[in-house]
Amino acid sequence: MYGEFATQQYANPGAHHPQAYVAKKHLWELHERMGRVLGADPREIIFTSGGTESDILALRGVMDGAKAPRNELVISAIEHHAVLLEAQRMERAGASVHYAPVTPDGVIDLAALRKLVSERTALVSVMYANNETGVIQPVNQVAKIAHAAGARYHCDAVQAFWKLPVRPREIGADLLTLAGAKFGAPKGTGLLYNEMTNRISPVIVGGPQEWGYRAGTEDLCGMAAMAVAMELAEAERERVWPAVAKLRDRLEDALLMGLGDNVRINGRNAPRLANISNISFLHIEGQAMAIELGEQGFSVGLGSACAPGETDPSHVLAAMGLSWEDAIGCIRVSFGPDITQAQVDRLAALCIGNYKRLRGLG
Ligand SMILES: Cc1ncc(COP(=O)(O)O)c(C=O)c1O
Repeated sequence: MYGEFATQQYANPGAHHPQAYVAKKHLWELHERMGRVLGADPREIIFTSGGTESDILALRGVMDGAKAPRNELVISAIEHHAVLLEAQRMERAGASVHYAPVTPDGVIDLAALRKLVSERTALVSVMYANNETGVIQPVNQVAKIAHAAGARYHCDAVQAFWKLPVRPREIGADLLTLAGAKFGAPKGTGLLYNEMTNRISPVIVGGPQEWGYRAGTEDLCGMAAMAVAMELAEAERERVWPAVAKLRDRLEDALLMGLGDNVRINGRNAPRLANISNISFLHIEGQAMAIELGEQGFSVGLGSACAPGETDPSHVLAAMGLSWEDAIGCIRVSFGPDITQAQVDRLAALCIGNYKRLRGLG
């Protein structure tokens, strides 16, 4: 289907000739298919280049049109850099932005959030699940707090989709971000769900594409791939992730057993996605462990993979109250859907061996 759009159905859906009308029909159908997975209307789907663009469109789209006295933004302290840096940019430009703290387990502090959200709040942006710890946020309650104050709620569901059911109406999200690369669609695909009655300002202006919210000739190839990947992800969720969660726990149990107090699993006491384990090895640098594991055939992350070149410990772990030393010793293991018990057992044994060697414990 992807190939068909690249080689045969290449007409511009915005043009006015028979082939273009066929492309326009496909465009509608692809929006319909993406919408169906989310329980949304096709006109609520804005196709984008990924999570970053969708997050920025959500924030700027609401905040650009927000007028005093309702013009404040509230985000959590653990948002992805796409949200965090855009919020900081707005703050530098004069906007009033509030950062809701999280508990030591990495869950948003709802009582603190309630105090920050008021009749002055235009938008609340709190992610569904954190990309560094996998910790799942109480999004329904966040939505209720936002709506009770008359504010809109944006949910970055980039990490959650595929691993959890994601239905913006059930969450109570007015806007919701997905990134195709996180569930098998090509990199450079994503979407923003925008509830039908919610008017936002476009970031990319020009033509009337994507309901006037994102100008530029539509990428039917990308949309086709994204629609199929969304349907497959939805169909596979129950079969794949519960087994991965068991293997994730198996790895963590083995590390705790083998290294005792020298290891901490960040966010372990909170509800988490099945595929992420955030591990602090005390008294060593996570980077040293990651390099060793890389040479042994395992590619693991350091905090956020989305902050290349950063040497400071993650803002997420800092918000959870981890000391600099605990945060610097952290690696993030992401499990794919095909992970096996043998791989997990080998990884645990390598981590334990590497740790002892790096600390000179023999
Ligand atoms: C929670 C979250 N939001 C946004 C993004 C950015 O998505 P993209 O890389 O598709 O722009 C990511 C990327 O990993 C993410 O994990």
